[in-house]
Amino acid sequence: MKKIFSILAFILSACSFVVGQNSSLIKIQTDETMMVLSGATNQKLEFYYWGDKISGKLNFTERKQKNQPDTNDEMFPQAYPSYGERFYLTPALKLTHVDGVLTTDLIYDKHSMRNIDSNIVETTVSLKDKIYPVYVDLIFKAYQKENIISQSVKIRHEEKGILNVENIASSYLPLHAKSYYLTHFSGTWAHEMQATEEKLNRGIKVIESKKGVRATQAENPSFILSLDTPMQEDAGEIYAGSLAWSGNYKLSFEVDETGRLGITSGINPFASNFKLNAKEVLDMPEMLLTYSSNGVGKVSRNFHDWARKYGMQHGDKEHPIILNSWEGAYFDFNEATITEMIDNAAKFGVEMFVLDDGWFGNKFPRNGDNAGLGDWQVNNTKLPNGIDYLAKHTVSKGMQFGIWIEPEMVNPDSELAHKHPEWIVQSGKRDILPMRNQWLLDLTNPKVQDFVFDTFDEVVSQSPHISYIKWDANRHIDNVGSAYLPKDKQSHFWYEYVQGLYKVYERIRQKYPDIQIQLCSSGGGRVEYGALKYHDEFWASDNTNALDRIFIQYGTNLFFPSIATGSHVSTSPNHQTGMMIPLKFRFDVAMSGRLGMELQPKDLIGDEYEFAAKAVATYKAIRPTIQFGDLYRMVSPYSGNGWASHMYVAKDKKEAVFFAYSIENHGRTEYFETKLKGLDPNKNYKVTEINIQDYPKFTENGNVFSGDYLMKAGVILPIGNPFDSVVLQITEQ
Ligand code: GLA
Repeated sequence: MKKIFSILAFILSACSFVVGQNSSLIKIQTDETMMVLSGATNQKLEFYYWGDKISGKLNFTERKQKNQPDTNDEMFPQAYPSYGERFYLTPALKLTHVDGVLTTDLIYDKHSMRNIDSNIVETTVSLKDKIYPVYVDLIFKAYQKENIISQSVKIRHEEKGILNVENIASSYLPLHAKSYYLTHFSGTWAHEMQATEEKLNRGIKVIESKKGVRATQAENPSFILSLDTPMQEDAGEIYAGSLAWSGNYKLSFEVDETGRLGITSGINPFASNFKLNAKEVLDMPEMLLTYSSNGVGKVSRNFHDWARKYGMQHGDKEHPIILNSWEGAYFDFNEATITEMIDNAAKFGVEMFVLDDGWFGNKFPRNGDNAGLGDWQVNNTKLPNGIDYLAKHTVSKGMQFGIWIEPEMVNPDSELAHKHPEWIVQSGKRDILPMRNQWLLDLTNPKVQDFVFDTFDEVVSQSPHISYIKWDANRHIDNVGSAYLPKDKQSHFWYEYVQGLYKVYERIRQKYPDIQIQLCSSGGGRVEYGALKYHDEFWASDNTNALDRIFIQYGTNLFFPSIATGSHVSTSPNHQTGMMIPLKFRFDVAMSGRLGMELQPKDLIGDEYEFAAKAVATYKAIRPTIQFGDLYRMVSPYSGNGWASHMYVAKDKKEAVFFAYSIENHGRTEYFETKLKGLDPNKNYKVTEINIQDYPKFTENGNVFSGDYLMKAGVILPIGNPFDSVVLQITEQ
């Protein structure tokens, strides 16, 4: 009986139901939130609400709406406005029809809902033009437990000829409040994800990239929008979004004459007109959205939960502690240097060794960044016994082995560049401008896609002991153009490049579901969910300076989880900044992400060596809480008070790990005090300081406190000097 019931339940859940005609409220719901649209035959799709779930009757259709100025039309927010009729602002869609008509008038046609599984409900809302055979589907996926709603868009048409798609957003959000505070991210190489908050005034604020590759280095396609007050951690209404797309993007925030804010998010229409044949379908990437009525802390936890399950690879498995060779060896190594590094890394208890750049190229050896990219054969002079020898050696020391590649790129000085000049991105007869001495391969071309896949495949095939690939991409796209795309489709380049990349990722994941892959692009140049989906983690920045990392990781972890945030202890003075920072502080910062090391292990001398080995062992004990726990932030490094503090709490609230950092000099008498968050008030916890240098700073070290006490009275820590830090392990008794 039970079986019949569950079969019935499955059949019902697998069925979608379609609603058409007349007027209906479309409710897109998660466990805690609700988005309400209204679809009525021959009417625009209206956007009524997105916020906490409302119980009881929804009266939206009875709401009075003001008249549109100078017209007799009603004014209401559209859920997906196209350019045409009375829409004067930045539209989600702009087309030119085959007959030259510039306007589009989308109306509701029907919608359907289906349960993809017990956690994901998909709603497809179909719109069509009033006159032209143009069809637009809005696809919403509501992730119940994680309170994430993704929106993507598909367009097709049956006009007789080619439809010119000039602007097609993944999502449009109309909000209304007294004021809007936008937090977005900016930066540059080694300075990514710097958070900036600004109040939006009348006009348009645009966050975009036109760089194609390394598109998240200077900006990020993620935003946090706080209503009526600057962003708070645990209070206030917050809307947040992150576009899952690895190319050009544009998020635009427009405050109009009514005081309403329209947020249009999607791929960047810049130089990207799309010529769409009849019946062809054009898909837009997913915009991931979440809402919190309790501040941005909840936004981060929603995204992290979602990411571990849906937005990355192997988010349910502990990620290993890595020693990466880059800052310890750069290009300057041979077999003996590397085996010595491997031996020393093993002594620390590190779990994986990664051989970075510099291992390949023979005719054009990769001894610097000026040669060899494209020629993915092991350099016989540096590594005469090949990669398998190193990988075996690593495995014999009890560690996993990983290796670096940058398969989308080619140095002019390479065999590949000479063999396949037609594979290189080039704007007609113009010069191909090098960046970091390299050119870009044209991934719109299926032959190049094959080459990139084969590169991955062949590199991995060098040894059965390769368990990790660091995939890098170290330049932007400029002087754009493709020898493969026809001349009337050159503007498809930006879109097709990314689709080509995804095709390769797909093939790789089909063949290698278990391999771990790091997403790197000169550090944090590809930190977004379109690419992360195929990867295990990203390299957040080439800047390993612990002080800067506090800011970079704060910004990054607003959206992306710590399990995916490669965070390495490097040497002092730091190679990027010259700053000297104590080893303890460097570990205390790196341990808050996926811990690793980025140094020559033999450079650690005296008691540093012992400290590092102990910290690595400690990380293994706290790792489940850091990598799978909930992040609570107490003090933002941007607060201006010179401290930063956050903690991770295990889902069952039995364990927590607390971090506090002093990031400036506070004078002798000031001390740091903060209340903890996220614990169970009814549990008792033992609080133990870890990573102790000389003596514990937490004077109550080892005492037992109630969760309620820790969250109301908090802890006091004498960390007033720059680079003082404390890590506390909090364990249920
Ligand atoms: C990029 C990466 C670094 C390193 C170098 C190697 O800059 O971000 O981590 O791999 O390339 O050339």
